[in-house]
Amino acid sequence: MKFSSIRDMDLKDKRVLLRADLNVPAQRGKVTDTTRIDRLKPTIDYLHTAGAKVLILSHFGRPEGEQNPEMSLAFLVPTLEECWGTKVSFAPNCIGEKAQKASDALQSGDVVLLENLRFHKGEKANDPEFVRELASLGDIYVNDAFSAAHRAHASTEGLAHILPAAAGLLMEQELNALNAALGAPEKPVMAIAGGSKISTKLNVLYNLVEKTDYLVLGGGMANTFMNAQGYDVGSSLCEHDMADEAKKIMEKAKGTGCEIILPEDCVVVSDIMVNAEYEVVDAKTIPEEKMAIDIGPKSIERVSELMQKCKTLVWNGPMGVFEIKPFDAGTNALAHVAAELTNNGSLTSVAGGGDTVAAIENAEVKSELSYISTAGGAFLEWLEGKSLPGVAALDPARKAA
Ligand code: 3PG
Repeated sequence: MKFSSIRDMDLKDKRVLLRADLNVPAQRGKVTDTTRIDRLKPTIDYLHTAGAKVLILSHFGRPEGEQNPEMSLAFLVPTLEECWGTKVSFAPNCIGEKAQKASDALQSGDVVLLENLRFHKGEKANDPEFVRELASLGDIYVNDAFSAAHRAHASTEGLAHILPAAAGLLMEQELNALNAALGAPEKPVMAIAGGSKISTKLNVLYNLVEKTDYLVLGGGMANTFMNAQGYDVGSSLCEHDMADEAKKIMEKAKGTGCEIILPEDCVVVSDIMVNAEYEVVDAKTIPEEKMAIDIGPKSIERVSELMQKCKTLVWNGPMGVFEIKPFDAGTNALAHVAAELTNNGSLTSVAGGGDTVAAIENAEVKSELSYISTAGGAFLEWLEGKSLPGVAALDPARKAA
């Protein structure tokens, strides 16, 4: 992965179009999780100190090219100011006269947030005219939105082709961490893949058996693999129609030398609810009326032992229904082992994607892993081994293409 960094650029008095991902969780006009905003602070500080004039581009939600006041970015301004400790002004459009006026008024070190890019159809369509309109507002394009890099949109891809382009510090950090996890990792490498369905993660699994030494499966996905091998999974969540795919993945793993680790035992319940009565059973003989809801102690022990042999861990998806206590125990136990090994310097641990971050937060080890990605969908596409358009466009060699 080759890309220019903002560190390589002269930013003094330059108008920088900074693509950020401010698609943050919010409820009733209030941001409920500031992680993505906090993680942008080093770039904002860097640009500020370098004397740049910063125009922030972002989407929020999926307004599908319509002006939708419910998806306006204006509500973010107080939170941005608080998290970044700097004044942020707002322009009620990302192109046209109002945006131009905001751009012209910027002084060195100023920050302006432009209205939701997706209020214009040209954003998603990567329309060249829309790209040109955005580009006319700035001198330099900086992409700091790894979590939107799987989209080939005007602001994530198009702009990189017509303005001098560079990765922001968060993008740089994400790419370096991901490269350390799967690009050029220290071996042995373990991947933990959990979550409910293999059908949504087939390409992820095919890619992981190629790139890792151990693939630990948990959650509903593991049941699908157990069922494919002829074991009874009771009334557990299981994609019976995915048995052939599971067999193909196991076959591929044999060829690549990746060991697939399935649960040896599991925690089963009759009903999924807080503090439901549970028992631990052999994963190969789940009673008919019971469902697996977490991995059991033997499985935890086996994976923990293997993890101790590994140098790199990449984690996506919980081992069980971690939202309901005490069925977060398996996920928590593995998260604690990962944190301990990371703390003592023997493991590089990278996690990301959807509810993985919530599961790791629940285990209270979020700050103890080597890296937690801010990305959901983009992290998964990267796990699939796909080239992400927003990253590819930052490659100086591709710029002319
Ligand atoms: C995300 O939250 O994963 C990104 O902002 C991408 O959003 P999208 O799926 O609406 O493109």
